[in-house]
Amino acid sequence: MHHRNKTIISICIPFQCNNNLVWDKLPLIMEKAGKLWGGRFTGMTDPIMERFNASISFDKRLWKEDLAGSQAYVKALRKVDIVTEDEMKEIQDGLNKVHEEWSNNQFVLQPSDEDIHTANERRLKEFIGASAGKLHTGRSRNDQVATDMRLWMRNNLASIRTFFLEFIQVIVNRAKIEVDILMPGYTHMQRAQPIRWSHWLLSYAWAFHRDLQYMDEFVNRMNYLPLGSGALAGNPFNVDREFLAKELGFLGATANSIDGASTRDFVTEFLFWSSQTMLHLSKLSEDLIIYSSKEFSFVKLSDAYSTGSSLMPQKKNADSLELIRGKCGRVVGRCTGFMMTVKGLPSAFNKDFQEDKEATFDVYDTMQDVIRVATGVISTLSINRETMYNALSPDMLATDLAYYLVRKGVPFREAHGLSGSVVALAENKNCPMTSLSLADLKTVSTYFEEDVSEVWNYENSVEQYTSTGGTSKANVLLQVDELTTWLEKLKAK
Ligand code: ARG
Repeated sequence: MHHRNKTIISICIPFQCNNNLVWDKLPLIMEKAGKLWGGRFTGMTDPIMERFNASISFDKRLWKEDLAGSQAYVKALRKVDIVTEDEMKEIQDGLNKVHEEWSNNQFVLQPSDEDIHTANERRLKEFIGASAGKLHTGRSRNDQVATDMRLWMRNNLASIRTFFLEFIQVIVNRAKIEVDILMPGYTHMQRAQPIRWSHWLLSYAWAFHRDLQYMDEFVNRMNYLPLGSGALAGNPFNVDREFLAKELGFLGATANSIDGASTRDFVTEFLFWSSQTMLHLSKLSEDLIIYSSKEFSFVKLSDAYSTGSSLMPQKKNADSLELIRGKCGRVVGRCTGFMMTVKGLPSAFNKDFQEDKEATFDVYDTMQDVIRVATGVISTLSINRETMYNALSPDMLATDLAYYLVRKGVPFREAHGLSGSVVALAENKNCPMTSLSLADLKTVSTYFEEDVSEVWNYENSVEQYTSTGGTSKANVLLQVDELTTWLEKLKAK
């Protein structure tokens, strides 16, 4: 032991490793540390390893869920007589005191507090003494942390969900009010066909609608209790897991203890959900960054969500949107990173899983901010309807001209060619298509008649898309209705 101590110190000092230990007091601190898993360990842990292993700096965020799990667990232990009525009360009171300390920001971490589970149990023991040692009967930190994480996810996703609903509501509200505003629709970033501004807005509302559905789906899948799975083999004291599940608000208990204690599907699902949502938000940001450029000038960001340049006084930058777009990389990176951690793991618990926490918390905080900023941007954005309208150009009606001929009985392939000839004719004459006379048009096809003038109308253009999902006003308002009904139903829940 002496020899090992020496080795540790000589390895560590040159690295100037950064932790809270005072070097000359190290042996004493280690002796006092009294690890909860100390039994068979006689040697010291390398202080670097100590710091490397510890997760308390970030998993203390789970304190509430950890205590809630223990409160339920002690009741289950009572039911199978592992603890007496008095011991249960003692443990419950002790846990309440620990809860109070955390709530009041008075919980003092000790160097021996490796993670939130050991910290809470250590403090419980300080409050109530030996009977604290009964709480962990049949439980492992493996099923404990799996339970804490699911509880945390469930408790905290609720607020993201509320923000997200608000965000979708803001989009739908705008779409309803601004339904008459037309703008160019783009494919390949080239002007394609006239659309309603609201139709563009709602294309995002539907993407976010799917995101929200996906969130509800994975939260449902996650809502099964791992506690009672032990390290991997289950619980040997016949604790009533269905009771535990009910106590903690889960739909039921996980059916297989290996799966229960070790799956992190709910983490990867959350990270994927965030990534997918961020891809949508990134695209929305990119569109709006383009639309807010001087060249487009379709929209103007409010001052609350833009910043100036330190060098160029005339500039107003869409930093909010650039940051949202930028955070997308961070979130997708966290998702990919954690999936790579899981990839290659053998069955059951492995310490690699500890990596799930920083990924989850970081992505959670990011999503929370991103959704609120995006809501602010969309609700305060001003739009320039004249500029949008003026950006429409007659060439965008070439498809409409083909459809005109189709309605006269010309097969579409032929109509497409004839309309192309009209485009060419206008180009030759160096005038917009809309300025061609009926006589000009008749040189291309005798199917053109007086009523062709109705094609030269952007309003008529968007109105012709009457099939479900198209740009006609009725269709767009139908989308508004469907989304509003859906939102109201969710909010009422
Ligand atoms: N801090 C650990 C984690 O985050 C807790 C579980 C530790 N389990 C174990 N057998 N070492 O996953």
